[in-house]
Amino acid sequence: MPKDTLTLIDNRTGKSYEVPIEHGTIRALDLRQIKVSEEDFGLMTYDPAFTNTASCKSKITFIDGEKGILEYRGIPIEQLAEKSNYLETAYLLFYGELPNKFQLREWKNNIIHHTYVHENLKKFMDGFHYDAHPMGMLVSAVAALSTFYADAKKVHDPEIRRLSAYRLIGKISTLAAFAYRHSLGMPYVYPDNDLSYSGNFLNMIFRMAEPKYQPNPVLERALDILFILHADHEQNCSTNALRSIGSSEVDPFTAMAGAIAALYGPLHGGANEAVLKMLQEIGSKEKIPDFIKKVKGGEGKLMGFGHRVYKNYDPRAKIIKQTAYQVFEVTGQNPLLEIAMELEKIALEDEYFVKRKLYPNVDFYSGLIYQALGFPVSMFPVLFAIPRTAGWISQWEEMINDPEQKIARPRQIYLGYPTRDYIPLEKRK
Ligand code: CMC
Repeated sequence: MPKDTLTLIDNRTGKSYEVPIEHGTIRALDLRQIKVSEEDFGLMTYDPAFTNTASCKSKITFIDGEKGILEYRGIPIEQLAEKSNYLETAYLLFYGELPNKFQLREWKNNIIHHTYVHENLKKFMDGFHYDAHPMGMLVSAVAALSTFYADAKKVHDPEIRRLSAYRLIGKISTLAAFAYRHSLGMPYVYPDNDLSYSGNFLNMIFRMAEPKYQPNPVLERALDILFILHADHEQNCSTNALRSIGSSEVDPFTAMAGAIAALYGPLHGGANEAVLKMLQEIGSKEKIPDFIKKVKGGEGKLMGFGHRVYKNYDPRAKIIKQTAYQVFEVTGQNPLLEIAMELEKIALEDEYFVKRKLYPNVDFYSGLIYQALGFPVSMFPVLFAIPRTAGWISQWEEMINDPEQKIARPRQIYLGYPTRDYIPLEKRK
């Protein structure tokens, strides 16, 4: 019978060690016993950007990057996008099972009940300059929520954690809409609790003088599908940030503000914004070969392409592409679609991209839909942050309940000066 262990020989000492293999991994701490002397700290692993390190055990989201599979709690993303809705998917992520009718009604009521924000948050929003980026406003507003809910600090109380989940999922869309309306100098629209989660968000964004906003059902469903697709993605940059911040046992509002900050970057949730800017800059199909040449020459990246985990097609990108056509039937085609499709076609045939397994990711087509829905480019990362809240709060809940987790605190390889004396200012060169 082969053993589930790994035998290591330290060629420095000739000693041999046997360490257990569990779930295809070895524990980094099992290497600490490997020393050249008693004073030696012991062997560590070096893994900048965590490219081959599992930071947690999780039961939430499964990705097979080679096969292009994404599942939430075991259910394929394609089925959820076709049959579920965002709030039901959020329940699935948070609790691990699909809700029955009663559970779903209660979950929806609880979230809708928490979509309103304290009036002082409007004043807080008003403090931003008219051209403040809505993602910066969202980071700050979510952090500010923690100051309204001091009880959220009790992270070991399951009832309070549940309340924080309702508040976060409920209020994030309101804060996002307020950020948008502020940037236009338009009055804030309060939530309409008769509408679906996505329908209400469209209401808070677009309602003008009409007494009751009625979202277009095709556009409302398209946004809901986008929300489902963005709801979770296991240990990505922002989720890792959230778990790391949350491991200090700070309240979830503050931890989530940190996650939104991580999402803001152009290599992560800011990529959808960068894709649109890139397509606008390319401007016409004829200019694509030149652009591709520049990318291959190391001048910038083809935004919306490539993924740390997916080395095949990103399954979310496939669904988004189909959804885009449904939206364009209502809104008319986005003129940038032609450029995007041609860019994709050329890139998928080009040896540079094929060799590096670079395929369109979730952000390549999502921006075209957001633009067709009438959102400005700066709102794109915000539209990613709203649904990811369900994933973040589920990952946070799992982390808090995991007895193996502690405060996240990596090691380093120190390559700086050895001990040396302080030199008084007058003696320095
Ligand atoms: N355009 C051109 N070349 C690329 C691209 C790209 N978009 N992405 C990776 N490469 C090249 C990279 O230069 C490297 O080449 P070489 O081996 O010659 O040095 C090779 O492909 C491997 O790339 P990497 O940087 O080692 O890959 P990574 O896993 O560290 O980065 C990534 C993943 C998503 C950050 C990267 O592909 C990227 O910057 N893509 C563009 C930004 C983007 O679309 N981000 C959205 C990600 S999906 C949504 C989300 O979850 O955030």
